[in-house]
Amino acid sequence: PTKQPQKDKNEAVNLKIQKECPKVVNVVDLEELGDKTCYCRCWRSKKFPLCDGSHNAHNEETGDNVGPVVMKRNK
Ligand code: FES
Repeated sequence: PTKQPQKDKNEAVNLKIQKECPKVVNVVDLEELGDKTCYCRCWRSKKFPLCDGSHNAHNEETGDNVGPVVMKRNK
């Protein structure tokens, strides 16, 4: 088998959220969801796992195009 190239630590997606944990997992109780909740996918939110709009600055700085996942209740 060919050896996988060593990943550069600088390629990490998560720069500072719960770095003491081996894996960041968020469990959401569906019953506690409001009519609309936005979850961060850029890993830059200060309110992680919720989106706080930080993806806008990240996208401007890096040319990236990430945004939240929006959980919306049908009415
Ligand atoms: Fe991360 Fe909005 S702040 S997706």
